[in-house]
Amino acid sequence: MNMSPPPNFALVALLCVAVPAFATTFPTTVEVDLMFPRNDTYGPTALFPFVFAFQNALLAPSLDPGFDISLREITSPNTTGYGLALDVSATNFSRSDPLYVYTSITSLPAAAYRLEWSFGASNCSDQGTFTLGGGFREQSVEFTIQAGAPLPDLVSTATSTECADISHFAFNLTGTLNVPIPAQDDNRDTCAVLSDTQPLVPGNPCAVQVSNVTASSIEAALTATACAAVSPVVSCPKTNAASSGRDIGFAGWVAVLGGLAAALVVSQLL
Ligand SMILES: *[C@@H]1O[C@H](CO)[C@@H](O)[C@H](O)[C@H]1NC(C)=O
Ligand SMILES: *[C@@H]1O[C@H](CO)[C@@H](O)[C@H](O)[C@H]1NC(C)=O
Ligand SMILES: *[C@@H]1O[C@H](CO)[C@@H](O)[C@H](O)[C@H]1NC(C)=O
Ligand SMILES: *[C@@H]1O[C@H](CO)[C@@H](O)[C@H](O)[C@H]1NC(C)=O
Ligand SMILES: *[C@@H]1O[C@H](CO)[C@@H](O)[C@H](O)[C@H]1NC(C)=O
Ligand SMILES: *[C@@H]1O[C@H](CO)[C@@H](O)[C@H](O)[C@H]1NC(C)=O
Repeated sequence: MNMSPPPNFALVALLCVAVPAFATTFPTTVEVDLMFPRNDTYGPTALFPFVFAFQNALLAPSLDPGFDISLREITSPNTTGYGLALDVSATNFSRSDPLYVYTSITSLPAAAYRLEWSFGASNCSDQGTFTLGGGFREQSVEFTIQAGAPLPDLVSTATSTECADISHFAFNLTGTLNVPIPAQDDNRDTCAVLSDTQPLVPGNPCAVQVSNVTASSIEAALTATACAAVSPVVSCPKTNAASSGRDIGFAGWVAVLGGLAAALVVSQLL
């Protein structure tokens, strides 16, 4: 399977989260959750983030995951949509669990938007002959950018309302197989065997909580990426010294917003 968008760079959280011992007890669930944005109204910021979390991340590569994301103004359906780059083909899924992947878009004008995200997942079986299948499934979320609304906040907790409504897919893996020819599956060594009876399960999006430390890390990474641009749209630290304070996050993103109408996908590798 190779239906992912053209190559581009994804941002991956480098978080100091302990990785649990590799659980090989099946059936098990691999889940991808759209942590941000939600169905909500946000104040304008110079950078607007898009954050996904993988649960049981160590097994995620066996799904050969891929994203195809687009954003469109709801009220002006004829305007060109924004393509969002999020390529996880080189992501190290062993880094943390949950594992966060994210990207951002700059200077999104005030409007109502529909975010359509397709998630590609492959699966395999072996009944004498090895077969590889799967494809993309789509979900969408609507959100609004409006002056005066609360700024985006990536922090969520167990008590955050409506975590159960988080847009997500959860796959029920009954095992994995070795891929005979990894080149035919985006160089993945293993592939997921999904349950015949219940391949998709409800999952548990409430299990992922973005801490303020994680949120700071994501904001810092997105800011650093934006600051690597030729003409940064955010206020950038004087040096490249790593900063994890929330002070350089959304507040900084707001500070330099103004007069920038053109949207641009920020997707450089850190
Ligand atoms: C989004 O939120 C609004 C207001 O809470 C609600 O009326 C609407 O049904 C929600 N839409 C979706 C798709 O969840
Ligand atoms: C959008 O495009 C369609 C097809 O090109 C056209 O018929 C329609 O009038 C357009 N709508 C607006 C609001 O421009
Ligand atoms: C992926 O991350 C893990 C955990 O941080 C690390 O041990 C491993 O070396 C990394 N693999 C690659 C290929 O960078
Ligand atoms: C698994 O792959 C088969 C093709 O081999 C496909 O028909 C099926 O829809 C896939 N199952 C899921 C849950 O993606
Ligand atoms: C996952 O698949 C297995 C095997 O088909 C099934 O027994 C189990 O009930 C499924 N899990 C869920 C949560 O449906
Ligand atoms: C994160 O939250 C904890 C507890 O709510 C608080 O003690 C800590 O100061 C916060 N850290 C940052 C960087 O905001």
